[in-house]
Amino acid sequence: MVIAKTNRLIISKVTLKDAAFFVELMNTPSWLKYIGDRNIKTIKDAEHHLKNGILKSYKESGYGFYKVTHKSEPEKAIGIVGLVKRKELEHTDIGFGFLPEYEGKGYGYESSVAVMDLAKNKFKLEKVLAITNPDNKSSIHLLEKLGLSFQKRIKPFDKNEELLLFAKTF
Ligand SMILES: CC(C)(COP(=O)(O)OP(=O)(O)OC[C@H]1O[C@@H](n2cnc3c(N)ncnc32)[C@H](O)[C@@H]1OP(=O)(O)O)[C@@H](O)C(=O)NCCC(=O)NCCS
Repeated sequence: MVIAKTNRLIISKVTLKDAAFFVELMNTPSWLKYIGDRNIKTIKDAEHHLKNGILKSYKESGYGFYKVTHKSEPEKAIGIVGLVKRKELEHTDIGFGFLPEYEGKGYGYESSVAVMDLAKNKFKLEKVLAITNPDNKSSIHLLEKLGLSFQKRIKPFDKNEELLLFAKTF
């Protein structure tokens, strides 16, 4: 189900058929370095992860993470972008991740602009947060370009892992 279209991209809901793509995405060097090893190594792992994560979020929040495809090759997922309400954070946060060969082409920005627009105008959120690893320069740069600003350092999940919290109020 298509959620939004941009100049070059199609943003649509994830289904269990995307499990293989998630195995690939969640094991790329930058995902493992900046987001962490979520131990999604098989299609079965990914299906379980999707059922308990993204698909559950669609039901509970009305939004979640979406897959991004290029209009020239609409069957091939190149990344994800979306919104998630986590119990550890007071407001919804935006997140993104692309396969290495599709990084640095402006797709992160183009798809995130569309999701920020949905957050404000469709889901009527007052505020959007983001959390990122302090060394993740491309993520920080993208968040700032989207108009989010640094708030503080936080440890929302693991007492040993400090992340940067960003926010934008609409
Ligand atoms: C973070 C990520 C989504 C950014 O997406 P992207 O499509 O590469 O970003 P874009 O091409 O839209 O670039 C956005 C801006 O960041 C800049 N940028 C990209 N990589 C950069 C880097 N390594 N250092 C500094 N700036 C960088 C781009 O030049 C662009 O800025 P500009 O338009 O002012 O030139 C992508 O790098 C990624 O998937 N990383 C792995 C997963 C991840 O870390 N996700 C974030 C978890 S919080």
